[in-house]
Amino acid sequence: MNASERDQLLTAVQSAIAAAPNGNAAMQQAVRLLKDGMPHYTWVGIYLLDGEELVLGPFLGKPSPHTRIPLGRGICGAAATEKKTIIVDDVNADPRYLACSLETKSEIVVPIMDGGTVLGEIDIDSDRAAAFGAADRRLLEQVAGLLSEALSES
Ligand code: SME
Repeated sequence: MNASERDQLLTAVQSAIAAAPNGNAAMQQAVRLLKDGMPHYTWVGIYLLDGEELVLGPFLGKPSPHTRIPLGRGICGAAATEKKTIIVDDVNADPRYLACSLETKSEIVVPIMDGGTVLGEIDIDSDRAAAFGAADRRLLEQVAGLLSEALSES
């Protein structure tokens, strides 16, 4: 996927979120467009922070056993605690990793922030090793910004 295709995807996500009637619909649209638009995104989901736990919201891919993740656990918990994007090239080499599917090789988790507050995060797994780079991070951090607006409005 080249830069202009990524820009098109971001524009599509932006329009879909703007047209969504509420935060939940906005999350569903973002998940669908990212999953359909990026062939190396095998599992795409959004977790929302509820107290000290991340709770799985809309997702596409195999059902995950991790529907509630305490902040101290997993790559998801680490990204929410550190309030920054985490990219793991080889999940099996990362002791924090909570397995969702045996096929998963790499993962990116991008916090959805409202100022200094974590609202939730975008979590994406790939069956390809080291599937996520700077371009994915940029795209997903922009999508997280759009979702933050949609979630704080509803
Ligand atoms: N791998 C995540 C858990 C969520 S599943 O990938 C859907 C983690 O280590 O936090």
